[in-house]
Amino acid sequence: MNRKYRKTIIAGNWKMHKTASQTKVFAERLKGALPRVKRCSIVLCVPYVDIPAAVKILKDSRVAVGAQNLHWEASGPFTGEISAAMLADLDVKYVIIGHSERREYFGESDLIINKKIHAALNAGLRPILCVGEDLEQRDLGVTLEFISYQLKAALAGVSSEEMRRVVIAYEPIWAIGTGNTATPEQAGEVCAAIRGVLRKLYGARIARSTTIQYGGSMNETNAEALLRQEDVDGGLIGTAALDTEKFLQIIQTANQD
Ligand code: PGA
Repeated sequence: MNRKYRKTIIAGNWKMHKTASQTKVFAERLKGALPRVKRCSIVLCVPYVDIPAAVKILKDSRVAVGAQNLHWEASGPFTGEISAAMLADLDVKYVIIGHSERREYFGESDLIINKKIHAALNAGLRPILCVGEDLEQRDLGVTLEFISYQLKAALAGVSSEEMRRVVIAYEPIWAIGTGNTATPEQAGEVCAAIRGVLRKLYGARIARSTTIQYGGSMNETNAEALLRQEDVDGGLIGTAALDTEKFLQIIQTANQD
């Protein structure tokens, strides 16, 4: 983390977990136990149907509510889809875009991800853009090239002004949900490389102020070492964010001096 230049953001990604009733219980407990967080922002990205309950309970707290996906068109004949404007109208502030599960299981291409980034920005949302290599790419030594390509494709046409609202999450696919967290050095190396790509695309000032999270089996025990890396500005947390105690511990860690 480097709080002098950029925000530390701890974000939960619930994926397809918790009903609206369970969301109410979690949000009440989180709100009640939340410390005075001055040093980091907190986001909870919940399933679409849980958004109203989360927003209602977390309204006057320091926790912003996020979504996990959106459709790139503003409206239209897209049965089952949700637009950025629908999310913004519910007071959603963030949206995860390009998560590897969406790329893999729902066939999301770089072009679709780019369209979704624009849709989010046009509606005033803050996209959390996920990038990350798989094990084969890591073993072949092409991690940095691959991530540089993903970033350039997803951010095509995004202006410097808009870039101020974009959060990047480095999520190595081999670390997601596996318990195989990247070492702090591995996470730090790739997050620094991401900042290098942003520097080339947007210049030093924007690169310096962009929040770059790490995600992939981050939990209450490894968060401290990961966040100590200069270029790791927070976490996108799946499994550990389903448990209020664990999520709160990670928040406490990020909120430390
Ligand atoms: P995990 O998920 O913390 O369970 O590895 C992270 C993510 O996929 O965002």
